[in-house]
Amino acid sequence: SLAKSPDNTTVLLTGGAGFIGSHTCVELLNSGYRVVIVDDLSNSCQAAIKRIRTITQVNDDRLVFYRANILDREALTTIFSENNLDAIIHFAGFKAVGESTQKPLEYYHNNITGTLVLCDVARSFGVKNIVFSSSATVYGTPEFIPITEMCPKHEPTNPYGQTKSMLENILTDLYKGDPQWNVVLLRYFNPIGAHESGLIGEDPKGIPNNLVPYIAQVAVGKLPALKVFGNDYETPDGTGVRDYIHVVDLARGHVRALEWMAGKCGSESIEGKALGAFHGAPQPDGTRSGVGIFNLGTGKGSSVLDVIHAFSAACGHDIPYTFEPRRPGDIAENYAACDLAACELGWHARYDLLKMCEDSWKWQSLNPEGYNDPQDTLDEQG
Ligand code: NAD
Ligand code: WQD
Repeated sequence: SLAKSPDNTTVLLTGGAGFIGSHTCVELLNSGYRVVIVDDLSNSCQAAIKRIRTITQVNDDRLVFYRANILDREALTTIFSENNLDAIIHFAGFKAVGESTQKPLEYYHNNITGTLVLCDVARSFGVKNIVFSSSATVYGTPEFIPITEMCPKHEPTNPYGQTKSMLENILTDLYKGDPQWNVVLLRYFNPIGAHESGLIGEDPKGIPNNLVPYIAQVAVGKLPALKVFGNDYETPDGTGVRDYIHVVDLARGHVRALEWMAGKCGSESIEGKALGAFHGAPQPDGTRSGVGIFNLGTGKGSSVLDVIHAFSAACGHDIPYTFEPRRPGDIAENYAACDLAACELGWHARYDLLKMCEDSWKWQSLNPEGYNDPQDTLDEQG
């Protein structure tokens, strides 16, 4: 059960070697939790695990790593048998929007089937607490801005987004069929930044698809110039507006989500501080359900030019860029209303865009080749 103190609580992080998972792992360990990571390293490096240990200085038994695919039922069964798991934070999945349109079968299989196998094995071990990485993409072109959780979902325009929306429905049905399940769907806006140590961060394979990793590689001299996709949107400066959120703020949101779930399971939260009886999250029809849905953003929109200027201030030199046509599938503007997370989770983002860019720059400049530097490769072999 979750209604225990953090040092008695073990959390399984699927995809915990990845960008958001590794930062969440640090925040969980710093809050006293025990963490088990399962990751097949399809989009990450084992070096991240070593870096997490360096940051947190935890003993080996507080952080356990399994290199395995969540599609592998046998491997998952072993992990659940070997660990007394209390809750799952489920990050594992493929996430590249463009690639998902080229490889829909791979995306549906990995993201959907992977989650079905995970939940099935978890259920057989009586583990029914899950926090899921959802995305603002489920709102499609939002009906209103700032986007509240009541904003209707719209058909995402790509298979990646479809998997997020479908998994939200699947996990909601899981709860409806068995109310012992506790489900929290966290809808992330645009996570950027890195841990302020500069030891962990986002390490995309190949040329980055997302804005800040691309700018960071321009800033460090690996790419010549940023292509700004569209300067004719109906936004203050014509470029796209997004709600960028520091990944460490996002990671802290996951710790709060676990505490919130614990309030449902028992009379005490895992911090030992009563959060009050869980009464579910407000739903669009005015009722409350055991499925918690929260936007995690800052509530502030920034344009592409705002990000370029903040990054220039962080790295101390100009970022060359050109204006290019719009990128197909992009929307003009989105940013979150985060009142529900503030009120229910007691969470709000602390860091501003400059801090996000400073930490992205620190990570990029200290690790120009990401985790793939010779020292880490040697360590992995050793
Ligand atoms: P990431 O790729 O860095 O992390 C995902 C991790 O999952 C990787 O380490 C990868 O190796 C692992 N993985 C993938 N498939 C697996 C499988 N079948 N079995 C085991 N491990 C597997 O991505 P991230 O940015 O940290 O995103 C984490 C989650 O948050 C994803 O579900 C993503 O869709 C979601 N999300 C991300 C963003 C974003 O902009 N980064 C926004 C909204 C939602
Ligand atoms: C941000 C802004 C671009 C790259 C994506 C996914 C979304 C979620 C978060 C997972 C936009 C502009 C970008 C570049 C640019 N992921 N841009 N030049 O598209 O808001 O969201 O990541 O769930 O589902 O779609 O993020 O970083 O790609 O773009 O001008 O080289 O930067 O047009 O306005 P996006 P992004």
